[in-house]
Amino acid sequence: LDSTATNSKAISRGPKLLSYPSLATQSSPPQSVPFQQPTPLISFSYTPEHILQFDESSLKYYHPPPPNAQLGYGYERWIRRPEERSRIDSLLEAVDRVTDPEGTGKDGRQRKLDLGDVGVVAWRGVVTRILTAPYEDRDRFDMNVMLVNGTLYLEEHRTEAQLKEKNNLKPQQRKMMYHGYAFESYCTTDTPSASSLKQPAISQSRRDPPGWGGDVNTNEQWCSVVRTKLGNTKIIIGGEVDCVQGQYKGTTDTFVELKTSMSIRGVADEIKFEKKLLKFYFQSFLLGVPKIVVGFRTPSGELMTTQSLQTIQLPRMVREKAASRGPSDANNIWNPSLCLAWCYNFLTYLRKSIREPEDDPTKKEDKSLSAEEANIEHPTLATSAAVWRVTFVPHEGA
Ligand code: A3P
Ligand code: MG
Ligand code: MG
Repeated sequence: LDSTATNSKAISRGPKLLSYPSLATQSSPPQSVPFQQPTPLISFSYTPEHILQFDESSLKYYHPPPPNAQLGYGYERWIRRPEERSRIDSLLEAVDRVTDPEGTGKDGRQRKLDLGDVGVVAWRGVVTRILTAPYEDRDRFDMNVMLVNGTLYLEEHRTEAQLKEKNNLKPQQRKMMYHGYAFESYCTTDTPSASSLKQPAISQSRRDPPGWGGDVNTNEQWCSVVRTKLGNTKIIIGGEVDCVQGQYKGTTDTFVELKTSMSIRGVADEIKFEKKLLKFYFQSFLLGVPKIVVGFRTPSGELMTTQSLQTIQLPRMVREKAASRGPSDANNIWNPSLCLAWCYNFLTYLRKSIREPEDDPTKKEDKSLSAEEANIEHPTLATSAAVWRVTFVPHEGA
């Protein structure tokens, strides 16, 4: 474990990178590490102007999309939030509201979670990246790791090159990306409705196609922050929830994740899709999202079919599909228990390897980034955290 600090001293020593865990060295069967059903702690919205608000104003409700919807519709009106470093600050604001840093646990009115008991705080995307690392053979992954009062704070760190790439997508890639958001618009409404008829989202002079839920603005998001436990480690995870089916009752059972994927035309496509399901699975699993609605589309963005998947059934579904294609397909099966066990061991390793600055001030000088260098603005983290840069790289030849 080392940091790739931007100061010259660190660079001259050369960053030490971690390779993704190798499937070859995993014990079989993997140790069993239980994952507790997530419980929501708090939710918040990003408004169309991307202002953080502790309310449900950006919550959307599921509505089945119309057949053959055109996912390219409204592309030129897409309000696209620039890609930036997804900092942990707004998650921490939410955590501040539900935890008691002193650990007294009593404020007379509402019992708060004792932050001292929490092992890890992170966005869902980071935890998904760690969990799926045993099967990652392509993309490098960098994260900032901070340890404050016994709690690990994990934050994805996109490199300059990654940010540049995301902000300069080729028109074709940009369009593909838009299809996913257009599918969300076709699948959602702003208000829960018992009626099977979807009310037009906005009154406008323009005639939108049936089922269109309003123009895409990627500033807008609704996020749920949940508490859960991996083995004996309490974890707080925040993530975007695409919509709820029916009402939001403060529980995860009505959460729905929306996804698009290319229509499956043969075995090769099927195998590719099953591989993708690993990410769909953990992304949803971590927030307790029980249902994933997948829209299958043509390359030009016509919605062909929609399939509803039960998150917890995905591992078995993939196992059975692969088995039905014969023993040669065993390599395409992913094992979520292996991922959970690896993640647990990795978090334990991080905790052992990282020391808080007050324990060992020389280590802070030598190996970690300052909060300033890592652009950490959150008041607690900025004053007390040393930031460790952890980088995973694919195996050579992978
Ligand atoms: P699809 O998932 O339908 O492809 P999410 O599924 O996580 O709710 O994200 C919604 C959409 O954001 C995605 O739609 C995709 O268009 C875009 N998106 C999310 N993560 C992305 C990534 N890592 N790279 C490119 N696009 C991404
Ligand atoms: Mg989403
Ligand atoms: Mg989605």
